[in-house]
Amino acid sequence: MADTTPKPLWGGRFSEDPSQGMVEFGASIDVDIELLRVDILGSIVWAEALEKAGILSVRERRKIVSGLKEVQKSMETDIAKPGYVFDRSTEDVHMTVEARLTALIGETGAKLHTGRSRNDQVALDERLYLLGALDSLGDSIRMLQESIVACAENHADDIVPSYTHLQQAQPVRLGHYIMSWFWMLERDRERFLDSRKRADKCPLGSGAVAGSGFAVDREFIAEKLGFSGVTENSMDATSDRDYLVETLSAASILMMHLSRICEDLIIWSSAEFGFVKLSDRYSTGSSMMPQKKNPDSLELIRGKTGRVYGNLMALLTVMKGLPFSYCRDMQEDKEPFFDTLKTVSDCLLILNGVVRTMVFNTARMEAAIDRSMFATDLADYLTRKGMPFRKAHETAGKLVRWAQENETTLDRIPTEVYKKHSELFEDDIGKIFDLRVSADCRTVTGGAGMDALHKQIMQAKRIRAKEDV
Ligand code: ARG
Repeated sequence: MADTTPKPLWGGRFSEDPSQGMVEFGASIDVDIELLRVDILGSIVWAEALEKAGILSVRERRKIVSGLKEVQKSMETDIAKPGYVFDRSTEDVHMTVEARLTALIGETGAKLHTGRSRNDQVALDERLYLLGALDSLGDSIRMLQESIVACAENHADDIVPSYTHLQQAQPVRLGHYIMSWFWMLERDRERFLDSRKRADKCPLGSGAVAGSGFAVDREFIAEKLGFSGVTENSMDATSDRDYLVETLSAASILMMHLSRICEDLIIWSSAEFGFVKLSDRYSTGSSMMPQKKNPDSLELIRGKTGRVYGNLMALLTVMKGLPFSYCRDMQEDKEPFFDTLKTVSDCLLILNGVVRTMVFNTARMEAAIDRSMFATDLADYLTRKGMPFRKAHETAGKLVRWAQENETTLDRIPTEVYKKHSELFEDDIGKIFDLRVSADCRTVTGGAGMDALHKQIMQAKRIRAKEDV
C-alpha cells in the first residue's frame, strides 16, 4: 500500500527533484510519526494564534482545525494498516500533516505554516511529548516504589547479611536492604520531575531562528498548550536539545540503579546463594539443559542499561559541535529519545512484576551469616566501656583470629577467653551475639535497626501521601 499524498516541495528555488536515495535517506516519518498527536495539537493552537493575529479569518481557522482533526484520524487509520508505507517525499510528520491538510481542504491548508518553521514546530512537539512522557515515567517509578515498600514491610523482621566488596559485612534487617532501592528510585523520580520544569516552556513562535515574522501572541499559545511559560530566545529555543539530554541522562542513572538491583537478585537467585526464588513468570528455561531456570527478566534489564547509556552518548555526540542554530543533524535525536522512553518504562514494569512475585528464603539468609560478623559489635562493646576504638578494633580482630585458629565462632568463644583478651569484657558479653540485637542497636536515622526502619517506611509513605493531596 502506498501513500498518494500530493507532494508540496520547496518548489521555487529548485530545478531538480532530490534523488531517490536522498529522499529515503532524509525521511524521518517512520520515527517521528510518534509525534502525530502533539503535532496536530500544536497546529490547532497555531491556527488559533494566527486568527488572533488577524492572519486567518474565523472561517479559515475553523476549516483548518476540522481538517487537522480529520488528517489525524486518517493517518491513524493508515498507521494501523499492516505494511503501510508513508510517502517519503514529505520527509517527516510535520510536512506529511501539512500536505494531507492541503490535499483535504485546499488552499486554506497552505496558510497554516504562516510565520512558523519546522524548527520551532519540532521543538514544540518534542517538549509537549516529553512532558507527558515524564509524567508517566514518574507514575511507573511510583508503582515500583510501592511494591518495594510492601516487600520491605513484609520482611522487616528478617535478617540478611549486608555486603561490602561482596564480602559479608554486618547483619541488617532485610527490609532495610530493600528500602535502599526505594531511595535510589526516589531521587530518580525527582530528577525526571526536576528536568520537567526546564522543558516546560513553549518554543512555538521562535520561527526558523530569529522569531516569527508575524506578531503572534506566544503567551496565548503557551497557555493553550498547558506550558507554564515561553522560551526566552528564538535561537536557543530552536537549537538546543538539552531537555532531551537531561531526560536521557536521568534515564541512564535510573537504569544504572535498576541494573544493580537486578545484579543482586541474579546473584541471590543462584544455587550458591539461594536467597531468593524468582517466579516462573519472570524466568525462562534453557533449550538444552532441562534443570535450568534463568533470571532472564533481570538480565535483560541489566543488558538494556547498555542501550540507554548508548542513546545518551548518541545524542550528546549529535549535539556536540553543531554551529548555531538548527542543523539537520538534530533529526537524529528522535530514535534515542523514543527508544529510551520505551526501554525504561518496559524495564520498570518488568522489575515491578519481579519484585511483587519473588520469594525470599529467609531461613537460608540467616543461616548463611558468618558469625564473625559480630566483630564490629565486639569492638563497639569495648569502645562503649572506654577503650579507644582503634585499640578495640585490634582486640576484636585478635578474637576473630582466635576463633579461626580454634575452629570456632565468636559467639562460641568461652567468656574466660574474652576476659583474657581484655578486662573490660564482662559476663554480659553473650548478649551481643544476637543478629537482631546487632541490627537493632543501629538506631541512628537511616540505620539498619527496627525503629529506624519503621521510621524510613513511614517517611516513604508520607512522601506518597503528600503527593496525593
Ligand atoms: N524532521 C526535522 C527534525 O526533526 C524537522 C525540522 C526540519 N527543519 C529543517 N530546517 N529542515 O529535525
